[in-house]
Amino acid sequence: MTALQIPDPSSCFRQAMRRLAATVCVVTCADEDSWHGMTATAVTSVCTQPPAVLVCVNTATAFHARLSASGTFCINLLKSSHVQVSQGFAGDLKGIERFERGNWRLARRLPYLVDAQANLFCKTASVVHFGTHGIFIGCIEHVRLAEDTAPLVYQDGHYVTTSQLAGS
Ligand SMILES: Cc1cc2nc3c(=O)[nH]c(=O)nc-3n(C[C@H](O)[C@H](O)[C@H](O)COP(=O)(O)O)c2cc1C
Repeated sequence: MTALQIPDPSSCFRQAMRRLAATVCVVTCADEDSWHGMTATAVTSVCTQPPAVLVCVNTATAFHARLSASGTFCINLLKSSHVQVSQGFAGDLKGIERFERGNWRLARRLPYLVDAQANLFCKTASVVHFGTHGIFIGCIEHVRLAEDTAPLVYQDGHYVTTSQLAGS
């Protein structure tokens, strides 16, 4: 007789979240010595008055300390051609080497990816700590927009383009 398996709530949660398709971003900041960046999908629009976004950053990452000290950050919305950029900023590369992938420039003292779908230059307005993460809320100070959109999407542990999403 097979025992009834009661699903582990944590495992169910992880599985459910894998279905939450999200545009891949690289969040960057800078200090006097160097540039810093990390791949993130936990990026959400908060409100439009004032224009604000949030990004959730694991306190175990090196980037968390950099972002906490920075006061400003830039959210770069990746395109479907940026898989290698994403992988570099997700741990394939370390430190300043991450910026060797992609065309990065400096504006408003923040590194931004020139051919991203969009770049959101933010000033940190609030930081909320919850569980393992810091939730950084940023007020938008400047936006760069590319003419074309072709988002790099992460779903179920894989990179996909919007044309590959189920149902499209
Ligand atoms: C597609 C993708 C999305 C990710 N999203 C997040 C995220 O939203 N928040 C986070 O803390 N880490 C996220 N990560 C993990 C970090 O990018 C990864 O831990 C990175 O190596 C941290 O770098 P650091 O420790 O050098 O700062 C994501 C990784 C991938 C591949």
